[in-house]
Amino acid sequence: MDVKMCFDLLKKHGQEHVLKFWDELSEQQQEVLIKQIESIDFSLLDKLIGLTKNDSHTDDPVSLDLAETLSLSERKSRDAEMIELGEGLLKKGKVGAFLVAGGQGSRLGFDGPKGVYPITPVKKKSLFQLHAEKILAMSIKYKKVIPWYIMTSIENHDDTVAFFEKNNFFGLNKNDVMFFSQDMLPAVDKNGKLILAEKDKIFMSPNGHGGSLKALWDSGAHADLVKRKIEYLFYFQVDNVLVNICDPAFLGYHRHYKAQMSSKVVRKAFPGEKMGIICKINGKTGVVEYSDLSEEDMYAKDENGELKYWAGSIAIHFIDTKFIETENKRGFQLPYHLAEKSIPFVDPAGRKVNPKEKNGYKFETFVFDALAHCKISVSLEVSRENEFSALKNKEGVDSEETAIRDLNNLYLRWLHKAGMVLSDTSAGNDINIEISPLFALTEEDLLKRKDALPTFSKKMYIE
Ligand code: UTP
Repeated sequence: MDVKMCFDLLKKHGQEHVLKFWDELSEQQQEVLIKQIESIDFSLLDKLIGLTKNDSHTDDPVSLDLAETLSLSERKSRDAEMIELGEGLLKKGKVGAFLVAGGQGSRLGFDGPKGVYPITPVKKKSLFQLHAEKILAMSIKYKKVIPWYIMTSIENHDDTVAFFEKNNFFGLNKNDVMFFSQDMLPAVDKNGKLILAEKDKIFMSPNGHGGSLKALWDSGAHADLVKRKIEYLFYFQVDNVLVNICDPAFLGYHRHYKAQMSSKVVRKAFPGEKMGIICKINGKTGVVEYSDLSEEDMYAKDENGELKYWAGSIAIHFIDTKFIETENKRGFQLPYHLAEKSIPFVDPAGRKVNPKEKNGYKFETFVFDALAHCKISVSLEVSRENEFSALKNKEGVDSEETAIRDLNNLYLRWLHKAGMVLSDTSAGNDINIEISPLFALTEEDLLKRKDALPTFSKKMYIE
């Protein structure tokens, strides 16, 4: 595209201001800017801008109902059979792992991809290493390769790949780890105008974790899944330090019910907890964001007097390879959500501004919106203390401190079951325990290796 065509296109969509500094740019900068403009889908952009002007979407009448959820007590008598089913599929090599790591991690404020963050209690292994060792341990246990697909964004792709290369893929075969980036979307200001992050650069951000379903397809990862005869993909997020990767029980339930996409949930700690809730929305399975839940639904009780909408989503799914194909063949159709944010910009005088107030909108799709397209979807309750602790914030809730505490407590509970006599394990003491996934992935694994355990000390790494 030459500059005239570019200008005409921008003018047609009322965005010609992005060429404001054109004459000041070097030839190379001009080329980069044109490439960026070419990458923008302007008809989609017009629709997204429409969302910012239309408040009615928040007033749409919504009726909520319970989704099919298997509670921990319902699972008790069935788990053994489901684990056997799931393990059978793992032994046949039908399972892949899928990590979404394209987020910007803005709340954590860490310089670099969030997966590089050192997090384990003793060895300070990174999130990526912790996940990698779990996948390696699973493939050793079931004697089959578990290919690992990692979605990055354009912003953190190179740093992510370099980190894996520097660390020899943490023992995994590099041919079984595939990286690809998700699409980016431009943001707009309150007047629906594109934002210049630099004189030669339009501000863009990753298109949300929902973009992962499209990125799997566009990148050729789906074709790789098919080539490897992988039928089930375990979806997880980079920041959950307790994630039970490729959990055979979860897979067993998913397969038993012939679901297309299943979810893990935990019981809400209290009605007002800031968690999305898995339920039926106008008859279809989905997640209602905390902020969209009415006061009435938030506190609603069931016939036993228990919280009705208790199933908090922890962003873990099994997804059928076939379902990913169907979703893409019908065209990517997840709804776009807008988020009001403070977005850095270059003002008309060419000065960079970091606004304190929210000055624009970013657009994202959410992976759980695909649940609405499933014929069958199962939600499985898991114990929060065993499976969910996310690193989101610098301090306070969901921070490094709580992630380390929860890992420590998990390992301590396992050791306790193995008969190790421990003193007080409450917060505030100085016990630091870490068990390598390659020593034991689960409590059951640890109990089998009881005799190999060292004597207990306050700081110990078991490998
Ligand atoms: P979050 O919604 O918690 O976002 O992502 P984040 O980027 O990690 O952190 P904040 O909100 O900026 O502080 C949950 C998971 O989804 C991935 C993230 O990498 C994380 O694993 N994600 C999010 C993507 O892969 N792409 C996106 O566009 C957004």
